[in-house]
Amino acid sequence: MQTFWQEKIRVGNLTFPRFIGAPLDGITDAAFRKLIREFSKDELLYTEMRHVACVANDKGAAKALYFDQSERPLSYQVAANYEKFIEQACDKILQKGVDIIDLNVGCPARNVISSGSGSALMGDLPRLQKILTCFRKKLNIPFSIKIRAGFKECNALEVAKLAQDCGVDALAIHPRLQTMAFQGRPDYALAAQVKKALSIPVFFSGGVVNFKTAQLVHEQTGVDGFLIGRGIWAKPWKFQELAAHAAGKSYTVDNQFILACAIKHFNYMLEQYGEHAVYMFRKHVPFYIRGLTDASQLRQTLISCKTPEDVLNGLTLALQ
Ligand SMILES: Cc1cc2nc3c(=O)[nH]c(=O)nc-3n(C[C@H](O)[C@H](O)[C@H](O)COP(=O)(O)O)c2cc1C
Repeated sequence: MQTFWQEKIRVGNLTFPRFIGAPLDGITDAAFRKLIREFSKDELLYTEMRHVACVANDKGAAKALYFDQSERPLSYQVAANYEKFIEQACDKILQKGVDIIDLNVGCPARNVISSGSGSALMGDLPRLQKILTCFRKKLNIPFSIKIRAGFKECNALEVAKLAQDCGVDALAIHPRLQTMAFQGRPDYALAAQVKKALSIPVFFSGGVVNFKTAQLVHEQTGVDGFLIGRGIWAKPWKFQELAAHAAGKSYTVDNQFILACAIKHFNYMLEQYGEHAVYMFRKHVPFYIRGLTDASQLRQTLISCKTPEDVLNGLTLALQ
């Protein structure tokens, strides 16, 4: 018999496992998603957030739409603060081919909320309603949103009901206020209220790092899906691990395996960004080498690398 953890979530005609790859701007890019796909084929992965104006713009579109069909099932996440550019952006995203389009209604960053997008939309419901209606009219594929507990005050329940009334197909909640950014205890009780009030699938985001935390969230909230954000950083095998633990099996990785992943990750970043990957990979280094006995010395060497060869040699040395 299938347990809760083996059952799939259905959104429109799409079905996918309960563990989902959250959007992490600057981290879960196409290079990392390509690496994740070597371990997990079916899990839904969000892209990083891109503003509709950037996607609609011919110059911005090439970068914003840099992804491969092998990354699907993919939920393409956009930001919007007005209706302009939504249609054009959707046309381009649909032409490229994705499974879901997701509107970000939760980003707390100052540069995003200052223009009225991200979590600022939770503080302006008439504007949010117009934007949701515009997407719904345009899209013939599933449309979802990702919200917070609220902007300055908690109103997730009101926003969630509004979204469902506007025809949104699924909703992810990261139950922290904008002012909390990514710290502090997520509000499980609020997520439970949202789940209870809606008939569409509800996903939870915030602190799910292993099967134990997912079980706790499930018990406390009853949500359908679990977004893994920072828990997947430098752990592209994470979904395999979660599936094994959910089936009562063990799953272990050794240093050699981890560092082989780091080398692949870096090579995929070279493909995506060219030599600039040498600098961009620096943020991932501490996460990959965490736990190694000589981690701090290794980190110093790796973050001062200037060429791809230096990075690859450094990682290879660490592997031995
Ligand atoms: C570096 C970073 C980048 C993020 N980028 C996005 C983003 O582009 N879109 C989004 O909806 N949420 C973004 N988030 C929020 C995450 O998707 C997630 O909701 C949050 O980190 C809590 O989940 P976690 O504890 O599993 O990381 C970002 C978070 C971090 C730390």
